[in-house]
Amino acid sequence: MPESNRASQRPIQFYYRGEIRQAAGLPNTRTVLQHLREDLHCTGTKEGCAEGDCGACTVVVGELRGERLELKTVNSCIQFLPTLDGRALFTVEDLKQADGCLHPVQQAMVECHGSQCGFCTPGFVMSLWGLYLKHDKDGIEPSRREIDDALSGNLCRCTGYRPIVDAARRMGRLPAVAFDREQVSEALRGLRREEPLAVTHDGQTFHAPRTLAQLAALRSELPRARILAGSTDVGLWVTKHMRELGDIIYIGQVEELRAMRAADGFLEIGAGVSLEQAYGEINAYYPQELSELWQRFASMPVRNAGTLGGNVANGSPIGDSMPWLIALGARIVLYGVNGRREMALEDFYIAYQKSALQPDEVVQSVRIPLPREGVKLRVYKLSKRFDQDISAVCAAFAFTLDDGRVKEARMCYGGMAATPKRAAGAEAVLNGKAWSEDNVRAAMAAMAQDYAPLSDMRASSAYRLRTAQNLLYRYWLETRPEAPLAPGAVRAFAVAAT
Ligand code: FAD
Ligand code: FES
Ligand code: FES
Repeated sequence: MPESNRASQRPIQFYYRGEIRQAAGLPNTRTVLQHLREDLHCTGTKEGCAEGDCGACTVVVGELRGERLELKTVNSCIQFLPTLDGRALFTVEDLKQADGCLHPVQQAMVECHGSQCGFCTPGFVMSLWGLYLKHDKDGIEPSRREIDDALSGNLCRCTGYRPIVDAARRMGRLPAVAFDREQVSEALRGLRREEPLAVTHDGQTFHAPRTLAQLAALRSELPRARILAGSTDVGLWVTKHMRELGDIIYIGQVEELRAMRAADGFLEIGAGVSLEQAYGEINAYYPQELSELWQRFASMPVRNAGTLGGNVANGSPIGDSMPWLIALGARIVLYGVNGRREMALEDFYIAYQKSALQPDEVVQSVRIPLPREGVKLRVYKLSKRFDQDISAVCAAFAFTLDDGRVKEARMCYGGMAATPKRAAGAEAVLNGKAWSEDNVRAAMAAMAQDYAPLSDMRASSAYRLRTAQNLLYRYWLETRPEAPLAPGAVRAFAVAAT
């Protein structure tokens, strides 16, 4: 084995509060939040839900990508401590000024009356600090959309959001407080390692390979190990279901999995690219079609940590990426010691929580078709809340329409079956036919044979089927040959029609 492939058993090292910290002898699934509160006794960061929902535990993690320091908010309650290796951690304790005064971000919260019991406040403050650093005193008031995005992962049960939004509006024009990016970058340069990390505790090892070849070799050696990416699904298995994960292979340090490139009619997104970056890139190609789903997918901290690869590999029947990826005809690339293979994403899902992934393989990337002449993509998410909620039904349509006819009907739903699934019967009714109301209604009726959805806490079976049918009708309203309605106009139309 080449020297650089040999894993090093050493303490985890990360930058926190101006110095390099080391952590050793702790379980590999100890969360960053537990470490902060119980080991370092930094109790400013709070625990509310321990499942990524409330934002009380929001921290900022810094990472060097090339020579650029990237800072992003994440939920410390579902991040395992070893994922911090080589990175920087910032918590509300970092905001205290040398003279003991509040940071201007905190002061803005005080002046706008943005806090009552204060339990959620450190989390809000860290999300606001992220916004403050992004604006870097540019004097520009963040837009409401930007504020809603930044705060989408923070819940407050007593203040109400208006005063907090008022504080957020000030982020571009607060007094400057020195934040020495170069000092942090320098510290992180010193933590750069070429060899993979392996941390063993109680006979279970956390592996962090650095290259795809190392990852494939490990995967083949440890087919039962748990692959870990952004931890926004896996983290909850530990914090909520108390599961033992055994050996873990973390893919977050494999640079080859973090690439994105457009070529040959496809945009290829590496499995390690965060949801936020992936949707940002995809949105450049499908700006009208996907921006609402992007905004409504979980929250900013979850999207900063979670990956598109993890969403697709997990393959939840209520996950939000699969319906539109399958409707568009996306492909999934799998990688193992025997090389790379590729298949249509819809063929990847075999049954509930069962995929075509072999024990010695990982997901390498997702290949997304770029916009094509005549293909009209629309995605609709139905959930009880606008932000940070899982879909009851997610519907995606990517029909190829030509001169008032359906050349190819492709529609895929989440929340309707045990896997993300196309409505084959309804598609067959429409293929080759006029894109007309009568044919759409016939396809809606046929859909009753395509799906037998479950009733659960999110929606009843009848609601799911009815809304799935109605979303096809909505798609027709927005794309019909004559007088298509703009997306925003559909609600007014529906009210007028009832
Ligand atoms: P992880 O949690 O690290 O892994 C998930 C699964 O995929 C595991 O089985 C893991 O072994 C496997 N895996 C990961 N990467 C690979 C790989 N490269 N190769 C092979 N296997 C791999 N999801 C939605 O779709 N819509 C939402 O609105 C939404 N909201 C959420 C809100 C909250 C508060 C939380 C906590 C989660 C939410 N999720 C949502 C679920 C989750 O964020 C996504 O599924 C996310 O994309 C998972 O990615 P990850 O990188 O965190 O995966
Ligand atoms: Fe609620 Fe982490 S404690 S999101
Ligand atoms: Fe009490 Fe927000 S101030 S929860």
